[in-house]
Amino acid sequence: MTTRAAELRAAGVDVINMSVGEPDFPTPDHIVAASQQAIADGFTRYTPAPGLPQLREAIVAKLARDNGIKVSPEQVIASNGAKHSLFNACMALFQQGDEVIIFAPYWVSFPEFVNFSHATPVVVGTDSERRFEPLFDELEDRIGPRTKGIIMNSPSNPTGGVWSRAAVEQIIGLARKHDLWLLTDECYEALAYDEPFVSAAAIDPDFEKILTFQSCSKTYAMTGWRIGYMTGPVELVKAMSRLQGQSTSCPNSIGQMAAVAALTGDQSVVQEMKAAFQRRRGLVVERLAAIAGIKCGEPGGAFYVFPDVGGLFGQNWDGRPLESPDDVTEFFLTAAHVVTVSGEAFGDNRHVRFSYAVSDEDIITAGQRIADAVAGLT
Ligand SMILES: Cc1ncc(COP(=O)(O)O)c(C=O)c1O
Repeated sequence: MTTRAAELRAAGVDVINMSVGEPDFPTPDHIVAASQQAIADGFTRYTPAPGLPQLREAIVAKLARDNGIKVSPEQVIASNGAKHSLFNACMALFQQGDEVIIFAPYWVSFPEFVNFSHATPVVVGTDSERRFEPLFDELEDRIGPRTKGIIMNSPSNPTGGVWSRAAVEQIIGLARKHDLWLLTDECYEALAYDEPFVSAAAIDPDFEKILTFQSCSKTYAMTGWRIGYMTGPVELVKAMSRLQGQSTSCPNSIGQMAAVAALTGDQSVVQEMKAAFQRRRGLVVERLAAIAGIKCGEPGGAFYVFPDVGGLFGQNWDGRPLESPDDVTEFFLTAAHVVTVSGEAFGDNRHVRFSYAVSDEDIITAGQRIADAVAGLT
């Protein structure tokens, strides 16, 4: 899609990119200023593998303040993005012969982390009518003697779904019952619009096998700075630190100082970005839901909507029926000049992901273009 979009742009076509996976806001000024100060102060050297002490302290304080999670700095590791923490955790915990549950639609990296560890990803479905929460009957059936862990992600990329507290409690119950690691990817925790976000680790603080992954990327518009983190048992943090020490040494020192400013500084910037995303969510849902053949609910978080485009299947475009999300994304790109991501990338065959990390104007124009293009289907 990116290549096709680039070709169209080169041909002078005004393409709206709704495939982006990062905030469109600049990193807030006080965070940038802290990085400049870090350079001026000579924070340009290797740091301890799991991160600077002041960053680990800042993460501890943030987890207590925002999530009600109480941990010590030894239980925290900072990495080059939450992706890196997730990767290290999978490498440290899983191996050949193990099975790890992931939920479809999944973030594309989850199965690959598991594959990389030589364990096997076991994909369990979710209910698109119920916040994309797990199909719990299927989940219980798929847990066996080889199952070692579950990876969950709420608010979700790609669906935007935020699981109910009851669903999270049910997952924790299963993880406890079967003695599984529960890896909870909470990168979008700051972007839950309809109800306060609740971390699994806050629900069951005594269950040591809950691993919480969070990030500065989406919360503070810092995707390129590459700072994310995990909290879990000290032994696991040590193992991940050894892995990190032998691979990347440590996260970027300047990024770490920026992250300290982000986590400990003025949090109103987070609320401002959240308010803008929430407004855009309304704009995009309103437009897509009004189009015949597209079923678009209002997901509770992140900056994605994941409408069901199955109602367009069988309709003809350019003399050929649309048959899959791949076909529909191609149609949106060519006929409406809007870039989206097919659900097939996420293990799904009825939905398309739209990111609303774009301007209000772009959302309005894209909605109109898609409506016009769909009206032209035969
Ligand atoms: C679900 C999910 N987890 C993790 C990440 C990676 O975050 P980071 O930039 O902290 O590595 C992303 C980024 O798109 C994501 O969507």
